[in-house]
Amino acid sequence: MATIKFYLVYFVTMSMTVAISLAMPSLKVGFYQSTCPSAETIVRNTVNKAVSSNPGLAAGLIRMHFHDCFVRGCDASVLLDSTTGNQAERDNPANNPSLRGFEVIFEAKTELEAQCPQTVSCADIVAFAARDSAYKFGGISYTVPPGRRDGRVSHIDEPNDNLPAFNFSAEKLKKSFAKKGPSLDEMVTLSGAHSIGMSHCSSFSNRLYNFNETNPQDPSMDPIFARDLKTKCPQNANNGNPTVPLDVITPYRLDNKYYKNLKNHHGLLTSDQSLLSSPSTVGIVRNNARHGQAWAYKFAAAMVKMGYIEVLTGSQGEIRKNCRFVN
Ligand code: HEM
Ligand SMILES: *[C@@H]1O[C@H](CO)[C@@H](O)[C@H](O)[C@H]1NC(C)=O
Ligand SMILES: *[C@@H]1O[C@H](CO)[C@@H](O)[C@H](O)[C@H]1NC(C)=O
Repeated sequence: MATIKFYLVYFVTMSMTVAISLAMPSLKVGFYQSTCPSAETIVRNTVNKAVSSNPGLAAGLIRMHFHDCFVRGCDASVLLDSTTGNQAERDNPANNPSLRGFEVIFEAKTELEAQCPQTVSCADIVAFAARDSAYKFGGISYTVPPGRRDGRVSHIDEPNDNLPAFNFSAEKLKKSFAKKGPSLDEMVTLSGAHSIGMSHCSSFSNRLYNFNETNPQDPSMDPIFARDLKTKCPQNANNGNPTVPLDVITPYRLDNKYYKNLKNHHGLLTSDQSLLSSPSTVGIVRNNARHGQAWAYKFAAAMVKMGYIEVLTGSQGEIRKNCRFVN
């Protein structure tokens, strides 16, 4: 009896270990301790310098980590240039022209190559830079376990099926995140990143003009807020495609004001406001609006978890010499 019990416990423990190591591959804190001890300091200094002169880059870097991880995992595929014969992710309309902060990553990489050649992956630099941005603009602090390796593949069409779109309902957002790992709560929590940064008018003007047969504009948007947005985003604009802040209250502060905006029907994108309309997410929105510190902790944990999505480790992929090109 005792032996059977022992084997049972042993078996269960072993399969749990296997399951855990499958879900959490071998990223580890201190990965660059002996090979490049100043890696994180170099990235942090580069990010701090860049975002001090252009704070919008912090938003870009947080978004970049998301766009990297959701397409082929956190493998820096988003950084690769298009080449003759291959159009890369970077040129998908989800990234081009709105994704920003590339030059910050490239600058950190140049410095890292000078100090520790071919040691620190571009994918880890992106994860560090997002974390450093969240700290600088939100006081949100977390540890990023490194060890990601860089991918060698990037295709222009892949963001289409892997990144959620601005016109998604909460139901579609849930599916899009679940496919990658983050839970419903984590999806709502990560959406709080929209408390910093900007959006082009084209990402929400569908809500302002000719919304549908019965409504000229989206009834889930506060009409006064809509009126103001229309002055900034005129229909048939000949001034290009302007940008407005995603969070009008504190556009440069990564905080829970985003959720307060949603409660006031001041969410900018359909995907934002739908989190208040859906019965499955409204409770999470209200909680995050009420408890800023709890949201910040959840945000940090969800960012760490996002950083594990389909990572390449060990001898997979490579350590790029230049983040824009495969070796
Ligand atoms: C929930 C699904 C999401 C959708 C549909 C979505 C969509 C968008 C869109 C359309 C923009 C504006 C792009 C433009 O027109 O310039 C944007 C900006 C942004 N997104 Fe998201 N996003 C989502 C989730 C996330 C997540 C999970 C993060 C990070 C954790 C994130 C971070 C950002 C940031 C920081 C900006 C501002 C970028 C800047 O100012 O350069 N988003 N997003
Ligand atoms: C979102 O917009 C695209 C066109 O930009 C359209 O093809 C798609 O059906 C829309 N999706 C939803 C869920 O409304
Ligand atoms: C128009 O949009 C509203 C709000 O989203 C919706 O309730 C209504 O069913 C839509 N009407 C049509 C004709 O699509």
